[in-house]
Amino acid sequence: MGKKALFLLIASILIAYYVYTPFPENIEERWKLMLMNAAFKTLGHVADIAENLGLMHHMEIMMLITSMQYTAPLSDEKVTVTDTKMNDIPVRLYIPKGKPDSLKRAVIYIHGGGWCLGGTDWGYSNATCSTPKCKGKDYRMYRLAPKYHFPVHFEDVYTVAKYFLQRSVLEQYKVDPSRVCISGDSAGGNLAAAVTQQLLDDPDVKVKLKIQVLIYPALQTIDFNLPSYQENENMPILPKSLMLRFWSEYFTTDLSLMEAMENNQHVPLEFSHLFKFVNWSDWLPERFKRNHVYTSPTLGSPKLGQKYPGFLDPRAAPLLVEDIRLRGLPITYVITCQYDVLRDDGIIYVSRLREVGVPVIHEHLEDAVHGMLMFISSPLFLTSSQMAVNNYIEWLNKNL
Ligand SMILES: *[C@@H]1O[C@H](CO)[C@@H](O)[C@H](O)[C@H]1NC(C)=O
Ligand SMILES: *[C@@H]1O[C@H](CO)[C@@H](O)[C@H](O)[C@H]1NC(C)=O
Repeated sequence: MGKKALFLLIASILIAYYVYTPFPENIEERWKLMLMNAAFKTLGHVADIAENLGLMHHMEIMMLITSMQYTAPLSDEKVTVTDTKMNDIPVRLYIPKGKPDSLKRAVIYIHGGGWCLGGTDWGYSNATCSTPKCKGKDYRMYRLAPKYHFPVHFEDVYTVAKYFLQRSVLEQYKVDPSRVCISGDSAGGNLAAAVTQQLLDDPDVKVKLKIQVLIYPALQTIDFNLPSYQENENMPILPKSLMLRFWSEYFTTDLSLMEAMENNQHVPLEFSHLFKFVNWSDWLPERFKRNHVYTSPTLGSPKLGQKYPGFLDPRAAPLLVEDIRLRGLPITYVITCQYDVLRDDGIIYVSRLREVGVPVIHEHLEDAVHGMLMFISSPLFLTSSQMAVNNYIEWLNKNL
């Protein structure tokens, strides 16, 4: 064998080794997903190198993913799409054409991206927001980590939701006040759940949300050893390491919080009464417990709690509230994915909401990884994702 051929052989073995990730058999288009995952992984490595060299923050490089998918606010014959601001926060409005005088329904949609990535112009949202069946959607942005930390993201979204829910504003947009929904995916699902809880207690807000839709939301910061974290530690798109980086960046750029989270040793004694809210031994249905054995997280240094006081705040981790704060929440639609570290956050919320009598519709996708909303447009089109999105839109169309 010539040197060249040997070199090629070794290079292709290395590439195959790098690209090949053992995914579960029932995942559709595994090879495409693997390639996409390899691209994400590579970007992650580049980001690590750039960060270690002191050139750029990890998330500035990761932001390339979302800026590649930039979409301009393009209207078509069915929807008018415009970028605007509500109380100084940028939002993208999707307003259906057609009968201008009839009252519309509205969805406040919050994008994902781990509180660090994305924006109102992130392309994947276009597909869900411009579906003609759903009328009067809006979509918003919040300031991002690492430049801004909690509670800035929460407050940005809260400010816009509160602004939009004023009767005068709803009137201006010709929206029926009894038919407003809030929705978001991933970090956006986190913000949607947190904002919905806090709005309940706000005496200034008279208009109630009818529905919340939480798409694979992140809901808790107390236990990173849930069965879904253990089983899906290395799943594509959102491995545990990236999720913990996102969580810790939400609160601080100092990596000591993430290191404590990696060991599940970040909760100081004074917060140990919160474990019961996420105790999966109580809240997960048997089929998700499998052969995992519950152990409560190891207590961490009290210094962490003092240094980063926000990370166990329910505005960041909506699962960490008493039952009484869950009663009165609107009808809730939750989507969870089997191969997702965040799966059990969503499932535990479903159990806790049902326990206090909130009507919940739970759609669990057996063959999906995190981020399926991204897979309904090029380069990766998955029929199962399209079906899940269709179900969600159809349900919303009937129930909102
Ligand atoms: C947004 O989605 C609509 C409906 O699916 C489509 O017609 C339009 O071309 C999309 N716009 C962009 C900028 O991708
Ligand atoms: C978690 O739940 C199990 C089963 O109900 C219980 O034995 C255990 O004490 C709980 N642990 C914590 C920390 O809440």
